[in-house]
Amino acid sequence: MADSLHISAGEYTGDLPISEGTIRATGLSAVPTDRGPLTSYDPGFVNTAACRSAITYIDGEAGILEHRGYPIEELAEHSTFLEVAHLLIKGELPTGPELEEWNYQANRHRLVHENVYEIIQAFRYDAHPMAKLMASVASLMTFYPSSRRISDPATRELNAFRLLGKMPTLAAAAFRHSIGRHFVYPSDELGYVENFLAMLFQSQQRVWRADPRLVRALEVLFILHADHEQNCSTTAVRTVASSGNDLYTSCGAGIGALFGPLHGGANEAVLKMLREIGSLDRVPEFIEGVKNGKGRLMGFGHRVYKNYDPRAKVLKKAADDVFEVRGTNPLLDIAVELEKIALNDEYFVSRKLYPNVDFYSGLIYEALSFPSEMFTVLFAVPRTAGWIAHWQEQLTDPDQRIIRPKQIYTGHERRPYVPLDQR
Ligand code: CMC
Repeated sequence: MADSLHISAGEYTGDLPISEGTIRATGLSAVPTDRGPLTSYDPGFVNTAACRSAITYIDGEAGILEHRGYPIEELAEHSTFLEVAHLLIKGELPTGPELEEWNYQANRHRLVHENVYEIIQAFRYDAHPMAKLMASVASLMTFYPSSRRISDPATRELNAFRLLGKMPTLAAAAFRHSIGRHFVYPSDELGYVENFLAMLFQSQQRVWRADPRLVRALEVLFILHADHEQNCSTTAVRTVASSGNDLYTSCGAGIGALFGPLHGGANEAVLKMLREIGSLDRVPEFIEGVKNGKGRLMGFGHRVYKNYDPRAKVLKKAADDVFEVRGTNPLLDIAVELEKIALNDEYFVSRKLYPNVDFYSGLIYEALSFPSEMFTVLFAVPRTAGWIAHWQEQLTDPDQRIIRPKQIYTGHERRPYVPLDQR
């Protein structure tokens, strides 16, 4: 017989069913709201499942990450980013012809309307590229007003291709604007990741080709960042989607959520932290400071992983490949020392704080010649695949309603208005 949770609160007593799945969850929405208010108080939603999802499975204790059942390690070794995007969005790995069509469609939509470049141009030269990305992605809705027809599957798919295709173009344009260079148009001759690098770094060459080892390293980084179930930005996308929004508006919100230093902004913060530490001999002092409440060890800790983040392990290998081509970075030695000390320190061990995906990614991005402001942008481009998958799942899930949590009001009791001259 299925378990149930017996509750007794005020006048209400009842048994709430506990549904079985990867986590055991009880549906508090089963409590009739007319039987006296009973709700859960769960800031940060640490113990709340907001949806059912078939996209990504994480076992944080064991350090497992799987997309549609496939382990992240195998995808990172054998797959491509666009293939993983197909897996996330369509639910299965594509056959050969399906993959060809999928790649064609995603790459076919890489061009953006010229006015989008003007939107980016309108920013100050030193504007953060995430702000330019957020604004330009949100603006796409105005170029494709039919994207608001979210109940039509064909419209949803067309706009999914558009966004998947345009993200690298917009990200590259945000970067080129900040260095005062002309925008580079996408090229049919280059694949998704290599074309992105060309749009970023092409200078006076007619054709710009990257070292294939660096292209593969970025492809692996893209695969590792493609989805991570109900993280902050995906939750933002789902929340905005729940009021009936198009993909561009929803993902614009996701980009905003990702920008924060506790989420996607952490890779930028790691590099800043490593620079501030500056030398190996200052590492113990820095660790002591963190333990005494002076900031956090950025790139460490995770809401879900209470073990080594499986993506961080794959990243270490990608870092080796990139450093082989580009030469090593002295900040890497500081990162390795921080990791060594933290993994053996009672403060971090007892709180199960391990390196997360952001601990090494910033060092790799720097070795690939990206300025640190671009790091979160490099997270946003591949995470778009996950956002699209979740946006679609949210819109087609019959259980879902507009997301509108409750609050526990802690303010004043009702009181009369006080005229200005009496305050
Ligand atoms: N350095 C030092 N102490 C930490 C850290 C850290 N990086 N992370 C957590 N703690 C401590 C925290 O102070 C608390 O200690 P106490 O119990 O004594 O109050 C305990 O560990 C639990 O922390 P929490 O803030 O309640 O945990 P959370 O699940 O709410 O936060 C986190 C998760 C990722 C926001 C947090 O670990 C953090 O701020 N890490 C640094 C930022 C970072 O690397 N973010 C990237 C996350 S992975 C990629 C992504 O999601 O974008």
